Amino acid sequence: MQLPKAELHLHIEGTLEPELAFELAARNAVVLPHSTTEELRRAYLFEDLQSFLDLYYALMAVLCTEDDFDRLADAYLARAAAQGVRHAEIFFDPQAHTARGVGIGTVIEGLARALDRSEERHGISTQLIMCFLRDQSAESALETLEAAKPYLHRIAAVGLDSAEVGHPPSKFREVYEAAAALGLRRVAHAGEEGPPAYIWEALDILGVERVDHGLRSMEDPELVKRLVRDRVPLTLCPLSNVRLRAIDVLEEHPLRDMMDAGLLVTVNSDDPAYFGGYVGDTFHAVHEALGLGQEQLRELARNSFLAAFLDHDEKRRQA
Ligand code: ADE
Ligand code: ZN
Repeated sequence: MQLPKAELHLHIEGTLEPELAFELAARNAVVLPHSTTEELRRAYLFEDLQSFLDLYYALMAVLCTEDDFDRLADAYLARAAAQGVRHAEIFFDPQAHTARGVGIGTVIEGLARALDRSEERHGISTQLIMCFLRDQSAESALETLEAAKPYLHRIAAVGLDSAEVGHPPSKFREVYEAAAALGLRRVAHAGEEGPPAYIWEALDILGVERVDHGLRSMEDPELVKRLVRDRVPLTLCPLSNVRLRAIDVLEEHPLRDMMDAGLLVTVNSDDPAYFGGYVGDTFHAVHEALGLGQEQLRELARNSFLAAFLDHDEKRRQA
C-alpha cells in the first residue's frame, strides 16, 4: 500500500515520457533529435541543471495542441494515482510554449481539461502553478502574467524556475508584487544550484510561502533558524538532485539532517520522466538509501499535506 501523499514540486513538462513524445512528434510532424525511445533514454545522462534543461526544452516541441497538454497531464495523473498521490500542485512553463508560437490559452485550457476530470478519474485534487523562466527577462515574466489574466481562475500560484545561477530572485521583485496584488500565491525555486542568499531573497523580496528545493539551506545556520521559525516548507526532490549532480549519491542527501533540524520538508519528483521515478518511487528510494523508517516516511507524507495550498479543514482531513 502506498502512503497517501501530496505532490508539490512537479513540472508537467517533465512528465513527458519518451513513448508519448514520439507519439506526439508523429502526430504533429515534429522531428526529434533521437530516432527511438531507447536512444532518447540513453541521452538522459546529465551534467548539471543546464544540460537537462537543454533536452527538456527541446522535447517540448511535440506539445502543440490542447489535446497534447490534456494527454500529458492525464498520463501524469494516472501514474501519480498509482503511487498514492491524492493532491498535486502542478508547475507549467508558459514561456517555453509561447516562444514556439503555442498560445498560453492552449496550454492552460489543455491542462485544465485533464485537471477537471482528475478527481473523478484518478482521485487526485489539483492546482496549477504558473512558473516564470528566470533566465528570461523580468519584462517577459510581466508580459506572461498579463497574458494569463483571462485564466487567473485556473491558477493558484506563481513560481520561478529554469537556470538558477546568475538569475537571483530579486530580478523578479516587480512581477511577484504584481502577482500578489492579483491574489496569487507565491513559490520559487531557490537553493537548487544557487547559494543560500537566493533563498533569503525568495523569502524577503519575493514573499514566497514555500521554497522549491532549498537544498543548500543547511549551509547557512541563520537561514535554517528562519525557515524553522516560520515553518517555511521546502519541496525537496532527491532523485533530481542526484541526476543533476547537485549531490553525488542519494546516500549523501541531506534530507534526514534537514528533518532532524526541524525543517518542514517534503519529497517530490520534479521531472519524473527524466530522473528515474515518480513520487512513490522517490519515497522508496530515500527509504533504501537513507534508511528512513515508516515513521519518518509517514512524517514526510503528513508534511506534504501541511505544506499544500489546501484549506485548513482539508489539510487536517488528509494529514
Ligand atoms: N524546470 C524543470 N525542472 C527544473 C529544475 N529542477 N530546476 C529548475 N527549473 C526546472
Ligand atoms: Zn523543479
